Amino acid sequence: MKPIQDYFVPWVKGIPMYVSEHIELAWRKPELHRMMSNENPHPPSKKVQEAIQKYSDFANRYPDQGMVVRSKIAEISGMSGPENVMIGNGSSEVFDNIFRSFLQVGEEVIQHTPCFGIYKLRCNILGGELVSVPMVYEDKQLKFDIDAILAAITNKTKIIVVANPNNPTGNFMNTEDFIKIAETGIPFIIDEAYIEYSGLEKSQVGLIKKYKNVLVTRTLSKAYGLAGMRFGYALGHEEVIGQISAALLPWNVGTIPMWAALAALEDAEGLTERIEFNNREVAYIEDALSDIPGFIIFHSVSNYILFDGTDTGKKGDDLVAFAQEKGIILRPQSHLYGRNGWFRLTLGTQDENRMAVAVIREFYA
Ligand SMILES: Cc1ncc(COP(=O)(O)O)c(C=O)c1O
Repeated sequence: MKPIQDYFVPWVKGIPMYVSEHIELAWRKPELHRMMSNENPHPPSKKVQEAIQKYSDFANRYPDQGMVVRSKIAEISGMSGPENVMIGNGSSEVFDNIFRSFLQVGEEVIQHTPCFGIYKLRCNILGGELVSVPMVYEDKQLKFDIDAILAAITNKTKIIVVANPNNPTGNFMNTEDFIKIAETGIPFIIDEAYIEYSGLEKSQVGLIKKYKNVLVTRTLSKAYGLAGMRFGYALGHEEVIGQISAALLPWNVGTIPMWAALAALEDAEGLTERIEFNNREVAYIEDALSDIPGFIIFHSVSNYILFDGTDTGKKGDDLVAFAQEKGIILRPQSHLYGRNGWFRLTLGTQDENRMAVAVIREFYA
């Protein structure tokens, strides 16, 4: 008899389950302040909570294909209709579905690093080859490197993914650079998880009209504050969305998340409040930490801020450990560009942000 290990496909064999240790810790110890996973610090609005309550009565029924919420998404995104929208169990599932639709074993995904980790995870599980193109670190900024992205393209490239704004760097790529990538014809995912903080007028969604290979992904986990509901979506040309949707698991989005998402999308006031709060607090934190000698702050248009404290002589990991002792979970970052001072902070409530500023100042004092 062959051992069970021999039956696994080689690209799945040996890969461990992804466990987010800091999220596990935060649920285990609710007294800690969660400033590490780019969640929204505010609970859902009353309108969203009412929708959750209302549809809990229908939890015995299978959901439909989400025509109502998909139509609403099309409307706010300037697309023709629900045929341009695919919904998923968080945008993480949306990436998975897109990757499964285009990528075969041994084919390549280009990502621009540092970036969100899901692209790597979904590429690996399909036996794809991940090509990481680093951003350029210069003048105390992390800059998108369009020439390097284009130079990394081979005849095996099946997906190019760029987050805009990027996580963790918090900045936007130039519009003309998106056109250069779109022009290659290669499936091009523009991840707009944090776009609402700057307004949808900053979206690259207009490219879809001209380029069928462009897909825009978004999520309700960030500005809308529904990370625990798991709801994300992709926008694209109807032919492309139709084909990718063939790879969806039936009933991938539950009834409650779907209607909670609709309520959130309709609650323009709730969204505005969350965005204004966030942007005010980002400005507060950036300003309150701006006078620490040698401390580099990456200006963010999102709900997190990246820092490089290498030139202070202190390590990012030590800051993260220090903050945790004081009750705050921050996000460590791997060493980048030969430097070890990195860490990322996610905006919290007003009190949490003041507490974080005090802790960070104390550490570098
Ligand atoms: C750039 C980016 N894209 C997508 C996501 C995934 O969000 P979700 O799967 O919750 O929709 C995140 C989450 O942190 C992110 O930072």
